[in-house]
Amino acid sequence: MTTSAASQRLQKQVALVTGGSSGIGAGVAKAMAAEGATVIVNYAHSADEAEEVRQEIEKAGGKAITIKADVSKEDEVLAMFDQIRKEFGTLHILVNNSGIQVDSPFLDMTLEQWQKVIDVNLTGQFLCAREAAREFVRRGPQPEISKATGKIICMSSVHEVIPWAGHVNYATSKGGIMQLMKSTAQELAPHKIRVNSIGPGAIATPINLEARDTPEEEKSLLTLIPYGRIGEPADIGSVAVWLASDESDYVTGITLFADGGMTLYPGFADNG
Ligand code: BGC
Repeated sequence: MTTSAASQRLQKQVALVTGGSSGIGAGVAKAMAAEGATVIVNYAHSADEAEEVRQEIEKAGGKAITIKADVSKEDEVLAMFDQIRKEFGTLHILVNNSGIQVDSPFLDMTLEQWQKVIDVNLTGQFLCAREAAREFVRRGPQPEISKATGKIICMSSVHEVIPWAGHVNYATSKGGIMQLMKSTAQELAPHKIRVNSIGPGAIATPINLEARDTPEEEKSLLTLIPYGRIGEPADIGSVAVWLASDESDYVTGITLFADGGMTLYPGFADNG
């Protein structure tokens, strides 16, 4: 996982990965650390898992710390950013990754199930993006470190465009993230802050274990993926590194789908 210093694309940068203790977040945290970033592995509940990610990064020669904060709580987000400023002086990259699913048929969905998902997936991204943008503007440009003054990457989903019965709260949160990302990208571009999203498809993480834990379920999931394999967290890590690096300096306001073609209407391949 370690690369030579000369090829490290995120050297001298500080990156916060919310929900970095598992799944896609852990994959992104490791990929960014391997590119030289100092990574803050944020978690809401799983201290042990966050610590494991931190240790893995350090064993591979990277730098990381863990910070506990529930991204849906404003006071906890503010305290996390204060701690980051105290320990590292500033932040260069935010990966707005924390996300949950609380699935229910629409007819039975409670307000609590709706609210919880909107709070974590959408309000959490708002709060962290706002604090990151405030910090980027406060600190100002550091062109010797990165062309952009700051980079925000929102973890969206194929479900920002693919409707998802039985998951209305989740799909709505991801649709909302699209406008949060695009509107902030438009507003923050004059500050040289780039805002983009990644739209992962089915990535092998705990969030979708139930949809792929028997051979039949896996086969049925694969019918939705033209490229013929379920993704890995590292597939998203490499995309996140690129979006955070100067290689993508002219890219802002997009969702980059990393989904093995899930958004290509696979049902139409031999039909319609
Ligand atoms: C969801 C996963 C699902 C994938 C593709 C993701 O956003 O969290 O549970 O497997 O989309 O449907």
